[in-house]
Amino acid sequence: MNPSDSSNDPTEISTQQHRHSLDPHVGRYAARTKGMTASEVRALFAVASRPEVVSLAGGMPNLAALPIDSLSEQVASLVSNDGLVALQYGSAQGVPELREQICDVMALEGIQAHPDDVVVTVGSQMGLDMVTRVFCDPGDVVLAEGPSYVGALSSFSAYQANVVHVAMDDDGLQPAALREAIETAHRHGQRVKFLYTIPNFHNPAGVTLAVSRRAEVLEICAEHGIMVLEDNPYGLLGFNGQTYPSLRTQDPNNVVYLGSFSKTFASGLRVGWVLAPHAVREKLVLAAESATLCPPTFNQMLVSRYLATHDWQGQIKKFRENYRERRDAMLSALEQYMPAGCSWTKPDGGFYVWLTAPEGVDTKAMLPRAVTARVAYASGTGFYADQLGSRQMRLSYCYPTPERIQEGVRRLSGVLTDELELYNTFGPAAQRTISGPQAPSPDTA
Ligand SMILES: Cc1ncc(COP(=O)(O)O)c(C=O)c1O
Repeated sequence: MNPSDSSNDPTEISTQQHRHSLDPHVGRYAARTKGMTASEVRALFAVASRPEVVSLAGGMPNLAALPIDSLSEQVASLVSNDGLVALQYGSAQGVPELREQICDVMALEGIQAHPDDVVVTVGSQMGLDMVTRVFCDPGDVVLAEGPSYVGALSSFSAYQANVVHVAMDDDGLQPAALREAIETAHRHGQRVKFLYTIPNFHNPAGVTLAVSRRAEVLEICAEHGIMVLEDNPYGLLGFNGQTYPSLRTQDPNNVVYLGSFSKTFASGLRVGWVLAPHAVREKLVLAAESATLCPPTFNQMLVSRYLATHDWQGQIKKFRENYRERRDAMLSALEQYMPAGCSWTKPDGGFYVWLTAPEGVDTKAMLPRAVTARVAYASGTGFYADQLGSRQMRLSYCYPTPERIQEGVRRLSGVLTDELELYNTFGPAAQRTISGPQAPSPDTA
């Protein structure tokens, strides 16, 4: 019997009976499923995809610039010429030719790596899952920027790790806050396993870790025996073509690096990778094998052909220009429309702006009213493991056209202005009692 079934509280017992009648497996789930909840961001996808809503919520890459015709020829030729290999199982570590090419991709950011140390994954999300599986026991501490990437938070919570957030500013993670977080955790007898960080064009904060802070962050972690997990899916999307020195380059033995083709080629192919020190790499291959046997050979070969035959760097430049145009549209609309007291980050790459509303605004409570006004965003609390972020929201500019972005920001400013008027007139209690239509859950949308 599940320990949680032994309650003597009659209300608890009737709640359990109700749950049992809905799901006969209720008492059988592993304890770790308690940490598995639908992310607020995912719940939003369904609402936000309605055509009348301007969605500034999701982080879907804008694939319109991809050379679809030549890719379809490539797919056809892969099946007809190499179908028996492409449609077969492959090695757990990934297709060797692709691993070599991945090293060329990383070289653009100054990383010198050997293909033997690369493990191909089903997107970097799988890399996050594997690294957490290999390193974390229940109760271990993972340090992560506050706010942090939702998919990483859900991996950490699925393995029952405790996330401790480290404060950021416009220059990214604050080294002093990192040191304090580690020392506090150690004082409480907690084991800190790694620092999870997105140094470049952060999701959701839109900021980049200052180059001058990078060595210090690495030193602090090394000094306290803590590994660094560097997640870098946006590193090649700097709007001026700029790149930043990777953490992995500065401390190859203490950094595990995650990369992905999702933002620089095609997210639907689900091809990412982990670059890890040799011993860690061996564990990751075993973990990958037990999860998926091997990553999809077909998708890996397609990515490999694409890299070999297309001007992939030219394609990334096109993506960058697209995103820069959208970023400009968002920043100028925010300047034009946002009510006084709002502030926001000014990304120089990637997909996201992080907006802080004035006191009195609860972005999660406001969301249904925003959706009624036909604009969606991702409310801030979803990006924290500890419910902070209630005055924040993530605005994604990657997908809508510049005109839709402008219109979305205009609508959002109207919602925020109304919200602030309510707060200024009635105070926070009144806000709590005013209800609007609820954003549908993933099941009902
Ligand atoms: C910071 C970060 N890490 C990892 C991922 C997952 O990417 P992938 O598609 O490679 O699994 C994302 C996707 O949005 C992301 O923003």
